[in-house]
Amino acid sequence: MRIAAISDIHVRPDKGDEALIEEIHSRVEEISPDVFVIAGDVSSRIATLADALARLRVSSAMNLFVPGNHDIWFEEKIGLGSLEKYSTSLSEVCRDSGFLYLPDAPYVKKKMAFVGSIGWYDYSFKREDLEIPYKAYAQKEWKGSIWYDLLCIDWGYTDVEATTLFNRKLEYDLSILSESVTKVVFVSHHLPFRDLTLYKGRLPWDFFSAFMGSENTGRLLIYDGRVVLAVSGHSHIRMQKRFNGIKSFTVPLGYGRPADGNYSDLARNAVAHIEIVDGIVEAHDFVEGDICEGMPYADAR
Ligand SMILES: [Fe+2]
Ligand SMILES: [Fe+2]
Repeated sequence: MRIAAISDIHVRPDKGDEALIEEIHSRVEEISPDVFVIAGDVSSRIATLADALARLRVSSAMNLFVPGNHDIWFEEKIGLGSLEKYSTSLSEVCRDSGFLYLPDAPYVKKKMAFVGSIGWYDYSFKREDLEIPYKAYAQKEWKGSIWYDLLCIDWGYTDVEATTLFNRKLEYDLSILSESVTKVVFVSHHLPFRDLTLYKGRLPWDFFSAFMGSENTGRLLIYDGRVVLAVSGHSHIRMQKRFNGIKSFTVPLGYGRPADGNYSDLARNAVAHIEIVDGIVEAHDFVEGDICEGMPYADAR
């Protein structure tokens, strides 16, 4: 099973990233995967997201999409709320663009299943030693620094409620897999394991780390016993680690764009090439760290 995976492209609207998308598409075609996975944060504008997915789709592969928090930011102009995006609109966009919307149902190929979730955060990644009051996490604000979902998610769930909801759906998806499935690939936007988060020992960065994922998601994966690979996004720092036999990757691109407009290297670094042979997971030339470091910041809003 050959997999190409990327997340957090944060496509600039109004065709600003067409050349980058073209490079990513070429790179994925070059890998020639069985499955192409996008782990969220394509665009907070659904029109931009739809256009990007249509361009990114690789005809020779099964194309899978899991949304990120930015993909479900509400759009007041067109009257689309976060919950409607997550439960209806994004599924339709995926269908129209040739992607399978993994939150709807797992994708099963022979003995392997791909199970997907946006994941969420319940502050289980918070740094206890900072002694920041719980209220600050719940309000997504600490000393003037705001976690932007505060202003852009309108579904009315608390974060703990949202995390619980998505984790229960994950449990359900795992529970309905047929007995012939022996290996599971988990795709999420938010992180299932705390150690995929990079703490920098400074604020507000380490405050924001509490919004990266949930330890309960990872516990479900370990408990299941069939999960061999976890692919996530959200953190813009690329990592590969192993947790109880689960090879885990974060595969983000990020907000940076090379000043010279040469997107080839960025696309090559961003698309992870992962292979599963006899249940053993191996990545080819996986690039770790922040691949946008030093590049000008591109505003994707
Ligand atoms: Fe992101
Ligand atoms: Fe994100």
